[in-house]
Amino acid sequence: MSEPIVLGIESTCDETAAAVVQGRRLRSNVVASSMQEHARYGGVIPEIASRAHAEAFVPVVSQALAEADLDLSDVDALAVSAGPGLAGCLAVGVSGAKSLAWAAGKPLYGINHVIGHIAVTQLQFGPFPPDTLALIVSGGHTSLLHVEDVAKHVDVVGTTLDDAAGECFDKVARLLGFPYPGGPHIDRHAQSGDPKAIRVPQGLTQGKAGREHPYDFSFSGVKTAVARWIEEEEAAGRHIPVDDVCASLADSVASVLARKAMLGCQEYDSRTLIVGGGFSANSQLRAKLLEVGEEQGVEVRIPELKLCTDNGAMVAMLGVNLVEAGVRPSAMDFSIDSAMP
Ligand code: KG4
Ligand code: ZN
Repeated sequence: MSEPIVLGIESTCDETAAAVVQGRRLRSNVVASSMQEHARYGGVIPEIASRAHAEAFVPVVSQALAEADLDLSDVDALAVSAGPGLAGCLAVGVSGAKSLAWAAGKPLYGINHVIGHIAVTQLQFGPFPPDTLALIVSGGHTSLLHVEDVAKHVDVVGTTLDDAAGECFDKVARLLGFPYPGGPHIDRHAQSGDPKAIRVPQGLTQGKAGREHPYDFSFSGVKTAVARWIEEEEAAGRHIPVDDVCASLADSVASVLARKAMLGCQEYDSRTLIVGGGFSANSQLRAKLLEVGEEQGVEVRIPELKLCTDNGAMVAMLGVNLVEAGVRPSAMDFSIDSAMP
């Protein structure tokens, strides 16, 4: 099998997505989102998202096959996100993928969604150089990973001890009255604000026993500090400088992510940093990473937005890597793991 063809299926949160990848070529990429249905609740409602997956699954998968000009019988394997994510959402995607694979007699891989965010960069930038580091940031994850072999071995270098970066932005955005998801609103307002206007902490890095966690992140304290500052200003009857709040928050979060990613690159002697996840759309983070990357001689690979946010291409690409590496497909009774490490 020189260039395996894999159908990838994604349903970890509010996107129902399917894509076909052949070798390193993206043949189709279809995404349906239930985001609009969650907006008025201020966050993703798992039951609503699960129902939306059940509705969109067949239309999205058939469109992905049609756009690739293929039948299910033409693919070499299927891959599906088995975690981490919302349990009900994962169950819909995994059950659907199992049924398709079983009916068509095709192998199926249950994959780790976060590793998919790393794998997808191959579609735009080609293979990974040795000792690549990956920074995956979204509403659900903030992880720094060492990519030894994307199909076989990825080490966790650091992770968030509490809130993910996107989650922190979304919570502050809510206090400022922006609709969900608030991250992009903070980004836009930050562009006209003063990043030094308000002192925002850069996140705690101490372990429980005072042990340093140099590569871990913590954004819950950042959110609390900003919330308290807004509360005090409002109590004192002062006007809230929204742009300055956004700029100060964005600067703090982007700085700590960039600083720790570069520290990790030094530790692992890595000349390449891959960036992925919905939060990598953030202008302040992109600018900061490119700036420090240039200073330290690290090539920063941030893919185009449609590959950064949740999609089926990331799942299909990792599926191709697994087929190529000769990894055994998942047993048909494999389970979802909403807290997959
Ligand atoms: O990867 P993603 O689409 O879904 C998750 O797996 O969470 O990421 C969505 C997250 C949300 O928290 C959203 O507010 C944030 O990414 N986000 C942004 C921007 N675009 C999306 N945060 C800051 N600036 C942006 N431009
Ligand atoms: Zn994701």
